[in-house]
This record gives sequence, structure tokens and C-alpha cells, in this order.
Amino acid sequence: MKGVVLAGGLGTRLRPLTSITNKHLLPVYDQPMIFYPLQKLAEAGIRDVMLVTGGNSAGDFLRLLGDGSHFGLDTLNYAYQTGEGGIAEAIGLTEAFVGGDKFIVILGDNILEDSLEPYVETFRKQENGARILLKEVNNPRDYGVAEIEGDRIISIVEKPECPRSSFAVIGVYMYDDYAFEVIDTLQPSARGELEVTDINNAYLSAGKLKADIIEGWWADSGSSIDGLLESGIRARELRVRSKM
Ligand code: DAU
Repeated sequence: MKGVVLAGGLGTRLRPLTSITNKHLLPVYDQPMIFYPLQKLAEAGIRDVMLVTGGNSAGDFLRLLGDGSHFGLDTLNYAYQTGEGGIAEAIGLTEAFVGGDKFIVILGDNILEDSLEPYVETFRKQENGARILLKEVNNPRDYGVAEIEGDRIISIVEKPECPRSSFAVIGVYMYDDYAFEVIDTLQPSARGELEVTDINNAYLSAGKLKADIIEGWWADSGSSIDGLLESGIRARELRVRSKM
């Protein structure tokens, strides 16, 4: 299975910290933010990864991450996204790299406590389709929100005014190559982006979307200054615990 890490976008919610650099290069406790998603993929047994980024700081990723061997990767590939056309557009840039394989996407600003290994293993055994991860949160309006009945997803709405549940769709998505067929048909949303929620809803309509609810903490460190601070505190707790 291939891995994809997304690190494009403008990071406007973190200005002025992101006025002259990409948000994924900012510190989260003792590491640059982008280290965390790469470590999660490596820990789950993913060995071939493509990082998508853009803007003026793109070269900094190459200088920082090199060939990815520091993380235990066999290959670290890079794609350049011109503009900020959305998460689905960024995923579309990885089609040749994925090459018909299954793949896991992680947003470069998502930081998790849990290992992704069990979910990756379940998805390896899943015949086809997609698998997403959900987390119960206090502020669902800030995320894609899944309405669920038992273990069945009924709908997913991106940043709803009136959320139908408190289950956020976190930034970890597992897909087969049908995702690229879907991306080719997507139209920009009201915020001018190709939305990952539209990919997930296409799988849902096709009856091929499965979900797991994660137990450990999850932070969207790029959503706000407070989110960035919370991620740093959580990362520190995890580091302290791992040394005990
Ligand atoms: O964090 C989880 C949430 O991420 C989900 O619940 C939402 O459904 C999903 O749309 C997304 O929402 P955000 O508004 O937080 O996405 P954001 O614009 O912050 O982008 C998330 C990551 O994707 C970020 O690390 C940068 C990358 N990205 C984003 C855009 C718009 C790209 O690589 N290219 C892009 O064009």
C-alpha cells in the first residue's frame, strides 16, 4: 500500500506564523509538524510515500526530509501543487505514483496518538472501496461530520452549520484507485476547492465506504493557534510517557 502526505495550502488560519513559511514546517513541541504524519505512516508499515506541497517553501521540505530514510521509508517522492485547489486536487496529483495500488492519505497537519497499523491492516484485507476514521469532538462544525447509525455511515457533510453528530472525519483516508475516477468528476465547492468529503460521499453512494472510530486523542494542528498549541502539549505528554 502506498502513502500520501498532504502539505500544501496557505495556512491562513495560522498567520502571522505562516506569513513566510509553510505551516507544516512549524514546530509541534520538539519536531516540525510534518514529521508526525510521516512517522505515523512509517509506523503502520508504509514504505513508499509521496508528499504533496506547493508555494515558496516547497524546497524546504526536500532539505528537511531528503529521501525519507530517516523515517524508515524506502522512497519519499514529491509532487508540487500549483495553487490551493483543495485536498482532492492534491490527492489527484499522486495518481501516477499510486499506480493502481491501494493507498492511505494523511493530512500533514493531523496529529494522532493511536497507531494507524490496525486500520491499515484491516484495509489491506478489505476487498476494495474506502475506509475513513472518525473521532468524537466538541466542535464538529469545524470538520467533515459523519452521521452514523450503528456502524453504518448515513451521510458526511463538510463543516455543517447544524452537525447531525459529533463525529469528525479525521484527516486519514484509505482508498483504492476508484478515488482517481471520482476526482476527475469533482467540481469546486463554494470555497473554491475540490473537497475530500465529496470523494468520501462518492464511495458512500457506491456502498463502498467503511469507517472506524479512533480511541486516542487527535489534533488538527493547522486549524487554529489553539489547535497548534494543543498539539504541542499532547506531543509532549506522549514523549514524556514513552520515556517512562
Ligand atoms: O483535519 C480534518 C479535516 O481536514 C476534515 O474533517 C475535513 O473534512 C477536511 O476538509 C479538512 O478540513 P480543513 O479545513 O482543516 O482542511 P485544510 O484546508 O486545513 O487542509 C488540510 C490539509 O490539507 C493541510 O495539511 C494542507 C493540505 N492541503 C489543503 C489544501 C486546501 C493541500 O495539500 N492542498 C490544498 O489545496
